Amino acid sequence: MKITIIGAGYVGLVTAVGFAELGNEIMCIEKDSSKLNKLSQGISPIYEPGLTEMLQKHIKQNKIHFTDKIEDGIVFGDIIFLCVGTPQNDDGKADLSQVEEVAKEMAKNMKSYKLIIEKSTVPVNTHQWVKTVIKRYVRKNIEFDIASNPEFLKEGSAIRDFMNPDRIVVGLEGERAKLIFEQIYKSFTDKEVPLIITTPAAAELIKHASNSFLATKISYINMVSALCEKVGADINMVAEGMGYDKRIGRDFLKAGIGYGGSCFPKDVKAFIKIAEEHGIDFNLLEEVEKINTTRRIKFVEKIEDILWIIKDKNIAVWGLAFKPNTDDIREAPAIDIVRELEKAGANLRLYDPKANENFKSIFSEKQNLKYFKDKYDALKDADALLIITEWDEFIKADLSRVKENMKLPIIIDGRNIFSAKIMKEKGFEYHSIGREKFNPGEVWK
Ligand code: UGA
Repeated sequence: MKITIIGAGYVGLVTAVGFAELGNEIMCIEKDSSKLNKLSQGISPIYEPGLTEMLQKHIKQNKIHFTDKIEDGIVFGDIIFLCVGTPQNDDGKADLSQVEEVAKEMAKNMKSYKLIIEKSTVPVNTHQWVKTVIKRYVRKNIEFDIASNPEFLKEGSAIRDFMNPDRIVVGLEGERAKLIFEQIYKSFTDKEVPLIITTPAAAELIKHASNSFLATKISYINMVSALCEKVGADINMVAEGMGYDKRIGRDFLKAGIGYGGSCFPKDVKAFIKIAEEHGIDFNLLEEVEKINTTRRIKFVEKIEDILWIIKDKNIAVWGLAFKPNTDDIREAPAIDIVRELEKAGANLRLYDPKANENFKSIFSEKQNLKYFKDKYDALKDADALLIITEWDEFIKADLSRVKENMKLPIIIDGRNIFSAKIMKEKGFEYHSIGREKFNPGEVWK
């Protein structure tokens, strides 16, 4: 099938490459010229495992084309996925100006039937606006359908998630659109992946409701972890005990310093606003957000409780990306934590396997804030090591080397990546979240 993807951001690019892998011919529209230039040469502007290889393969096989000419894309595919950005306005609402702009272009350039599919995360009933805009601007009486087909990929495992979805959600009106979707996703439904066909409004809601629910789960477990710290229980054991209940499930019960990224913070805010606009006070989600912000502050307070004076202390930081396997630092907890420690006068020694360069766009290198290419070098002379992102290479780190390199073997782990027992045996003063409490100076001598 010929498919057009408008917007080669995170979702758009993975969707483009994923549909090419399923045997379709793709035209991807991107208006940012530097991004377009990179993409045309097979260079992915984002780090995502497996993406570059797949991109290069499909460019070579002529299955995927990139252009900035939206009119060509509209003519090319009968199926058009809208993957443009829906950033957050100052008041938390989604900015839908790019969606409107594309809808107008669509109206101007459509010459035959089109199935227009929202993939970007949008507020409920955006499909009605897209339909209205197209009807207002279209020149001739050309048939089209609007559908919503939200994406549930996670950064760091986006290609795998695309190729192995838990479910596919499609909100549509009419038999013609339904038949096209059944064809698009046939290879998945043949493998018994559930295809949930519903109304566009329900599909739009499913996306926001799913992300907000997952964020709620994280804030919930983080509050339980705060209680664990007070009473001396281990949050990992508590989460495991809860998670075996199938109704609760084990995923997204990892306590730590809270969620970040381009989705949860923005989507929770947007969902609160959507509810508010419809006269619903969704204060549960306001609490979820508040808890998430507070976890970062509490982590900095924990560092102060452990190190006392921050000024002039050498603090190594492992992990800047908002989660492992990505170079994305949007809304990353590391931003707030580094900012607070810098204000308090620490000498910061930062390391991330992929996100150093992106982090430099917020914190430029200076005397008291240095970036390292090697995680062990970042530890030289450190009074403490903070673990902010749970990259696999940290979990597998050589702890003897870690200890040798540091001035003091103090680790403050925001992601609970090590066993407290092993750390004790290895002579670390190891602090983590919602687990065994160490008094400063207790263990490492
Ligand atoms: C999230 C959703 O998981 C995807 O289903 C959705 O498609 C995507 O948003 C989106 O809307 O595009 P993503 O933001 O890439 O995906 O990453 P997650 O793995 O969900 O992690 C989000 C944040 O929650 C990270 O900061 C992570 O560290 C944190 N987290 C996750 C926890 O603190 N604890 C957990 O147990 C799980």
